[in-house]
Order: sequence, then C-alpha cells, then structure tokens
Amino acid sequence: MSRFEPHIEDQTLQLQLRGVQKRYGRVAALEEVDLQVRQGEVFGIIGRSGAGKSSLLRLLNRLEAPSEGQVLVDGEDIAGLQGVQLRAFRRKVAMIFQHFNLLSSATVAENVELPLRMAGIAKAQRRQRVVELLELVGLADRAGAYPAQLSGGQKQRVGIARALVLQPQILLCDEATSALDPQSTQAILTLLRDINRRLGLTIVLITHEMEVIRDLCDRVAVLEHGRIVESGEVWRVFGAPRHAVSQLLLSPPAQPETAACGGRYLDLHFTGDNGLEPDLAALAQVLGADVRLHQGSIERIQGRALGRLRLLVSPKASAEDVMRRAASIADRANWHNALE
Ligand SMILES: Nc1ncnc2c1ncn2[C@@H]1O[C@H](COP(=O)(O)OP(=O)(O)O)[C@@H](O)[C@H]1O
Ligand SMILES: [Mg+2]
Repeated sequence: MSRFEPHIEDQTLQLQLRGVQKRYGRVAALEEVDLQVRQGEVFGIIGRSGAGKSSLLRLLNRLEAPSEGQVLVDGEDIAGLQGVQLRAFRRKVAMIFQHFNLLSSATVAENVELPLRMAGIAKAQRRQRVVELLELVGLADRAGAYPAQLSGGQKQRVGIARALVLQPQILLCDEATSALDPQSTQAILTLLRDINRRLGLTIVLITHEMEVIRDLCDRVAVLEHGRIVESGEVWRVFGAPRHAVSQLLLSPPAQPETAACGGRYLDLHFTGDNGLEPDLAALAQVLGADVRLHQGSIERIQGRALGRLRLLVSPKASAEDVMRRAASIADRANWHNALE
C-alpha cells in the first residue's frame, strides 16, 4: 500500500498497482508505483511531460506489462489472463485518446459500430446499440457524417461512444481534452461526469490541465519522474499541495516577492479542512496596520472553500514577524501559511 493513501476497503477496489516498475531499455518510466482506484470513482493523474502518465495508463489496459510489480483489476493480476478471460478483460477496460483515433474513411455510426463488429455482435443488435450510444453522447443527428466534417469536441464524442459501446466498467482517458478548445473541453468533461454518474463507470484520466482535475476528479495523484509524489482527494491536494511539483502544477504563476513600494508580498491560503470559512477578522486583528490586502480569491472544489490571499506587508514591518503572527492564528482561523 502507498505511504500516501489511507487504507481502502478491498471490496470497493477496482484497480491496483503494487510496487510497479516500468523500464524501456535503460529508461525507468515508472518506479515503485502503488495506486488504488475505487469502483465508480474518477481518478486523475497529473504530472509534467515525461513523468510517466501514459506509461501508467498503458499498464492498466495491458497494452504493456510492468517490468516489476503487479497490476490488479477487480483483484486479479491481469498479467495471467488468457483466452476467454483476456477477452472479457478487454471489454471491461476502454480508452479514449487525445487525437481521437477515429477511422477517417468510416462514418460516425461505423466508427462506433466497429468494436461490436469485432466482437461478432449480430447486425440488428449492433444498429440498436449504435443508436443508443450516439444518443448518449448527443450525436444522434450526425450518424452519417465523416470525422473530417466534425469539430474536435464532436470527434471526441464519437471516441467516447465507441469506447462505451461494449459496456466497459473502466474508462481510461489519455489527455482526452488536450486537443480541444476550452468550450469543447467543458462539454466533454460534463459528458464524462454524466457517464460516470449514470453508468457507474470508473474513470482514470491523465492530463496536464488542472481544470480537468478540478472539475471532474474525486482523487488525484501527482506523478514526477515515474513516482507518485502526492495523492489524495482533489480539494485537499488543490487546497494545500505539499510537494514542490504539485505546487508548481497547481499554483497560479509566481509573482514578484517585492512590490514597487518596497513592501513585500505574503501569500496565504486556506482550505475548508474542518468546514470553517476563513476568519478574516481574526487575521486582520493579528496583522494590524502593517498589512494590506493585495489580492484574494475563493473557489469551491467538491463543496469545500479554497482560498488564496496575497497580502502586502509594509516596508516598515518585518515580513518574518508578520509571518510569525499569521502563523499564530493559523489553527484558529484555519489558515496555512503558503510559505511554511
Ligand atoms: N515506448 C517507449 N520506448 C522508450 N521510452 C519510452 C517509451 N514510452 C515512454 N518512454 C519514456 O518513458 C518516460 C515516460 O513517458 P510517458 O509515459 O509517455 O510520459 P507522459 O505521458 O507523462 O508524458 C519518458 O522518459 C519517455 O521518453
Ligand atoms: Mg503522455
């Protein structure tokens, strides 16, 4: 079990990586990866380019085998699957891609039908299933169109319909919205959330887009140099990222530490850990006249309040002293000093 994860009851687990290592020649793409994904949850994996995200996903659908360790799906090591069991596994796990991977010479309906054909499903049943799926993804009126006639968002809807046509239990998404404009991204995220809720589908998605994690995921793991450096519920990780890479990925772009007037900036953030809203009055009282509010924002993730405050500390005051005072009320006001 990972150092970072609380114990999860076994019966709810759908995916498990145990001590997984993946090497390509001398390149170690993944090292000592332990991961647990519950049935029906949306699990996000973020990390910089080259961190090992795609490698991890390819292990989950047995496109590749781990160099060491085990990948378990519903408690079973998938390395040993053969014949009927392997075919059942292939139906259980589906995938969507950044560049959609559609057949350009086939219509929307034919693209969605393809997995059914390959599975040897009878024609009448295939037709019915394609209609159902195109309705689910909102493309019923585009059945006869070719991929080139569709927008990026529509192409990904076809990708999703095709992925779901054999009624998988697990959907893997590799940068599924990275090629889309912000509006299409939002629409696809909404669709994925809807599918997750309506069909109870487990979703594992990898992305470098933070809003995808924020809007869609229940839990998130941060991957860096092939290792999981942090993981947990999204509101927790977003609210108070612990690892430097998480902070880099999740925090707004760095701003100067020194203001034009000679004062210094002090960044504070709060999370709704114990259901408290930030106690601004307490903070103002402790910090007094040495500090002015420069910027502030609050957002809600998974129903929790997450906020950031940027304070301008007067050049006359010592920033260290102000930080010490801020820290003194951290527990009471539910503040965490971003610089601690
Ligand atoms: N098929 C492969 N052969 C050799 N090296 C690979 C292969 N796939 C990935 N790698 C290497 O493994 C590391 C992780 O890659 P990848 O999993 O694609 O990362 P990410 O998806 O996070 O960008 C990188 O250093 C990459 O160059
Ligand atoms: Mg990748």
